[in-house]
Amino acid sequence: MQDYQSVLNNIYKELINKKDKGEVASYIPELKNVDLNTFGINLQVVGDKSYSVGQYDEKFSIQSISKVLTLAKAISIEGHNLWQRVDVEPSGNPFNHLSLLEQENGIPRNPLINTGSLVIADILVSQLKNPKADFLNFVRQLANDDSINYNEAVAKSEKETGYKNYAGANLLKSFGNLNNDVDEVLDFYFHQCSLEMSCEQLTKTFYVFANKGSCMLEKAHLNKSHTKRINAIMLTCGFYDEAGEFAFEVGLPGKSGVGGGIVALLPKKFVISVWSPGLNKKGNSKIGMQALELFTTQTNLSIF
Ligand code: DON
Repeated sequence: MQDYQSVLNNIYKELINKKDKGEVASYIPELKNVDLNTFGINLQVVGDKSYSVGQYDEKFSIQSISKVLTLAKAISIEGHNLWQRVDVEPSGNPFNHLSLLEQENGIPRNPLINTGSLVIADILVSQLKNPKADFLNFVRQLANDDSINYNEAVAKSEKETGYKNYAGANLLKSFGNLNNDVDEVLDFYFHQCSLEMSCEQLTKTFYVFANKGSCMLEKAHLNKSHTKRINAIMLTCGFYDEAGEFAFEVGLPGKSGVGGGIVALLPKKFVISVWSPGLNKKGNSKIGMQALELFTTQTNLSIF
């Protein structure tokens, strides 16, 4: 038996006083007011207990982590048809990179880079009656928590400064890979990124991807083939041009966001969420990655 609580406590002690915690994202102005020293972890063992340390119940902006959730919703509606509009290859480039999209005729490399997620947002805007409300309900249902919400100030702040996302959406539109109005798709995208959750809520939301027998699979209209593929995409594309490093150091499917959150999972075994808002040069939580490396090394639990 593993003493998970001691493992988490030791990781917290080892990392909380680190001098170099990276830098808080400032390109979305509303995100920069977060305390660099906040640090929380929540672990849910499948079919068993939950363990936490630090500010595990404080809400933060999940940002790109939402891309996995919109992908899940889109797959639940379109099934594997959606792969005609977005590929499943790692991009080896930053999350907001654009020139590859032009070279590859408007088909984004994968659904976890910004332009890939804009295609997914376009699908949801087309398919959902009330896109923002219906997607929020889907997330609340996965987490079994109606307190989860968008942060309007963060969505507005990104709308005012998201020049590269406007460029990406227009590029997709020029290739005929965006059916709806650019502004409508971006409004949905900025809202999905503004979702706020604590580590504990994030873990609960992603439990469906770890527990293959979950009754939530049916409720969310997902099947085991869907979650298998979503987990594969998280492993190969969840950390952009640092996906190789994350697989090498941590060895789990996962997803990061520029709010400093990371969620990762070992199918059938556990889901773990970490939040430390300082980012490394690739836009992933610096301390978050270190914490997960320590966790999988000390528990000897990874997919490899
Ligand atoms: O579109 C953006 O730039 C942000 N809303 C999300 C980027 C993000 O979280 C990248 N992740 N590490």
